[in-house]
Amino acid sequence: MSYETIIVETHGAVGLVRLDRPKALNALSRQLVTELNAALDAFEADAAIGAIVLTGSEKAFAAGADIREMQPLSYVDLIENDFVAAWERLAAVRKPVIAAVSGFALGGGCELALMCDIVIAADSAKFGQPEVTLGLMPGAGGTQRLARAVGKAKTMDMVLTGRLVDAAEAERIGLVSRVVPAAELMDTALAVAAKVAGLARSSALLAKEAVNRAFETPLAEGIRGERRLFHSLFATEDAREGMAAFLEKRAPAFRNR
Ligand code: HXC
Repeated sequence: MSYETIIVETHGAVGLVRLDRPKALNALSRQLVTELNAALDAFEADAAIGAIVLTGSEKAFAAGADIREMQPLSYVDLIENDFVAAWERLAAVRKPVIAAVSGFALGGGCELALMCDIVIAADSAKFGQPEVTLGLMPGAGGTQRLARAVGKAKTMDMVLTGRLVDAAEAERIGLVSRVVPAAELMDTALAVAAKVAGLARSSALLAKEAVNRAFETPLAEGIRGERRLFHSLFATEDAREGMAAFLEKRAPAFRNR
């Protein structure tokens, strides 16, 4: 499939989506989100892919929703199209998704990063929820996922002032997983993704599902669910193989069974 606003590549078992609207700093237009979702659907359906990397350009991961496209929209337009609902596709991806963030991750761009499982930031990265400066507010999880990720104090600071947070602060507050020198961003992200893609598929999918449940359920229910998922992995050949390989001091040969 050919795309106009994203570039899709595969690197072994890793699927890479690069947001590619350089003239608009990867502003998230309707077309871009539609194409992103199609690429995610394809990688989800492709058994050869075990993890996905989402990235942008050196200057911008994404500078937010496309303000030019949003400005003329009416309330009725938004209601009728359930605007932003399509963005949730990323959050529903079952395979692990690694965000590689360089430059601006603002508004909807920050919200996309928050939907990813591991966020690797270049030291140049800048995160922010500047929607209030437009007379708006975050609409794709910026008040919810951000608050769960970094707590109320930092979320209120970012959401009510629009202040940009640099990579070092983002790591300190738990908004990103790791910060690396900008020149090492893609190599690091692809290496992390390759490592995840090389795991037994069931354990990666269920581990992701279990962690995400921590954000949606009371603790006791989350613990119970985790235990059942843990039990279920004993039904896989790969768990048997992984433990045997450890005991035999060799690398495991997972077969996704
Ligand atoms: C449309 C955008 C854009 C955006 C940048 N551009 N961000 N177009 N939507 N979100 C365009 C500019 O209009 C400009 O086009 C070109 O990209 C380069 O941007 P500049 O502003 O000239 O670059 P610079 O001076 O380096 O400033 C970079 C920036 C700034 C700080 C990132 O562009 C900026 O503040 N952008 C808006 C960030 C923002 O408010 N995001 C939240 C959007 S609301 P031209 O044609 O002039 O060259 C949102 C809501 C999400 O995300 C809720 C769910 C949908």
